Amino acid sequence: MYLVHEVPGHRREAHIPTLAIHYRRAGRQPLSRLREPPTLAIIPIRRAGDPVLREKARRVRAIDSSILKLIEDMWETMYDAPGVGLAAPQIGIPLRVVVIDVHDYPPFALVNPEIVKRSGERRCDEGCLSVPGFRGEITRSVKVLAKGLDPKTGKEVRIKGENDLLAEALEHEIDHVNGILYIDYLSGPEALIPLSDAPEIKA
Ligand code: NI
Repeated sequence: MYLVHEVPGHRREAHIPTLAIHYRRAGRQPLSRLREPPTLAIIPIRRAGDPVLREKARRVRAIDSSILKLIEDMWETMYDAPGVGLAAPQIGIPLRVVVIDVHDYPPFALVNPEIVKRSGERRCDEGCLSVPGFRGEITRSVKVLAKGLDPKTGKEVRIKGENDLLAEALEHEIDHVNGILYIDYLSGPEALIPLSDAPEIKA
């Protein structure tokens, strides 16, 4: 998912060089202590129409080094895009893994994420890195409670969003691992709004 509108106070991490992000995420070690530079991987993002985006992604059975590397690649790819959320199928890996970094909540990855509870309805103006150049207005939940495994500890965590970007991103990214895109909630392709149209800027 990417930010359709500028959010005041958003950290704009995309402006931080990706190498710095990698080192930071590698455990805040000073650069001098890392013997070898990490292998950075910014992976092409699959676009709507690619069948991998429509698969029900498989559950991760063990959080091993390949999953941790996948998550690193997802961070790199998401910040490079730039976006505020990414799901593994978007880089061609049909596994249930998502990463999310919205303002006012610490960045997190979730393995085998699922929605526990949701309630209420609100309209959201949404965009997806797999549908570049467009946004669309859809209905999302007001309250969203999700759970999944924290890859750093292997333990289950619960994350709650309410009427915010976090709630929207949880639904958006968990939809991805179920083969759902936000455009599925639109009445049709004509409801997609090109990003060049910016009615909110009109005087
Ligand atoms: Ni998306």
